[in-house]
Amino acid sequence: MYKSLVSGINTLVPLFNGIKVPYINFDNAATTPAFSSVLYGINNFSPYYSSVHRGTGYKSVVSSHFYDNARNIVLDFIKADPNNYTAIFVKNTTEAINKLSFRLMDEIKNGIVLSTHMEHHSNDLPWRYRYNVDYVEVNTKGRLSLNHLEHLLKKNQGKVKLVAVTGASNVTGYINPIHKIAKLAHKYGSKILVDGAQLIPHHSVDIKAVNDLAHIDYIVFSGHKMYAPFGTGVLIAPKNIFESGFSDHIGGGTVDLVTSDDVIWAPPPEKEEAGTPNLFGVVALIESIQTLKKLGMEKVVEYERRLTRYTLEKMKTIPNIILYDDEDIENKVSIISFNIDGLYHGTVATALSLEGGIGVRNGCFCAQPYVQKLLHISKEDIEKYKENRDMLRPGTVRISYGLYNDFKEINIMIELLKQIGNNIDYYHNKYRNPPFYSK
Ligand SMILES: Cc1ncc(COP(=O)(O)O)c(C=O)c1O
Repeated sequence: MYKSLVSGINTLVPLFNGIKVPYINFDNAATTPAFSSVLYGINNFSPYYSSVHRGTGYKSVVSSHFYDNARNIVLDFIKADPNNYTAIFVKNTTEAINKLSFRLMDEIKNGIVLSTHMEHHSNDLPWRYRYNVDYVEVNTKGRLSLNHLEHLLKKNQGKVKLVAVTGASNVTGYINPIHKIAKLAHKYGSKILVDGAQLIPHHSVDIKAVNDLAHIDYIVFSGHKMYAPFGTGVLIAPKNIFESGFSDHIGGGTVDLVTSDDVIWAPPPEKEEAGTPNLFGVVALIESIQTLKKLGMEKVVEYERRLTRYTLEKMKTIPNIILYDDEDIENKVSIISFNIDGLYHGTVATALSLEGGIGVRNGCFCAQPYVQKLLHISKEDIEKYKENRDMLRPGTVRISYGLYNDFKEINIMIELLKQIGNNIDYYHNKYRNPPFYSK
């Protein structure tokens, strides 16, 4: 339905037998292809491309104006009030969270950060190594336990300064009830950060007014997961948190006045963006937002949900399939994790690539604690993996859709998975040493 919107759709890739077929990209949770409108936008802007905030020439003025105005477009996309919030451009979600974890040093100090057992490492490690962190549990199906969250908030009343939670899991696609979580966090005096890397490209988000208990304090996301490559991510945060102190990166662009013995910092957001900004990254992001808005996020959600529902129904008929996240499709983005009993996840992923030209990801998807929980890996087994780091580790195969994927592509994958599920020994022997396993 939306196939023509993205670039690279007809790329041919070689199979094991040397025949070339059109690539099927089911790895959009890692990175999406670019919207054609994004590439067109970059091309269109290039005659005016120049320095941002560093020149008086016409092109520089146009570039600076575009860049400054882009913040409002991004804020508007998630309904953030520009009087309270600012959008800071960074490299990606990971950089945004690292920046925030540095900037909240005074606010959190010896307090507690609540992360969860379903986070991507990027929303766990920056907190874990700076602060006292506790983790909200997930149930056996991998859903976040709101009861446990409330228990931890109550138990540590007054001490929890931040709840850092993903908007949607990059392993199961489960969407967290971010506004319910926000209400709970605020009720107990905490703030909330939503990792929007998997949510923003697939769902509309309204972060709500700050006087609403359900509002989101901080949200972060990456352009490259929403059809906008060129290396831009966003940190959206209340302006006032940047008023005191200074940024994790300092230098050109972050200051108002510098003498040989004094510095007066620029106001946010400039204070937080050291060095020449990535203008093309921002051009790409804005084009992508405009395209998504034109399509309508509700339509995108509905279409991707149809893809997911169809896939899960078909997958249930595949011999030896193990599904981890086949319930509650209404509260899920288009990500499916599975295994084929008796086959290593890397073998299945390699067979999909070399027999069908289908790109998926396998392993633990930078969310190792979550996958360990989902697969019920015992503490003893985890110890064994620590001792012998060359051992093949458990994981899953992940399919993740973008709005341009279609039912024909899904049918090709389902037929291949049926063959794999029916011929486990054959595929085990053929691909027992896959070339690449990701963690
Ligand atoms: C939920 C989630 N958070 C954070 C990240 C990190 O994003 P990036 O690599 O763009 O920094 C990812 C990437 O897969 C993710 O899925």
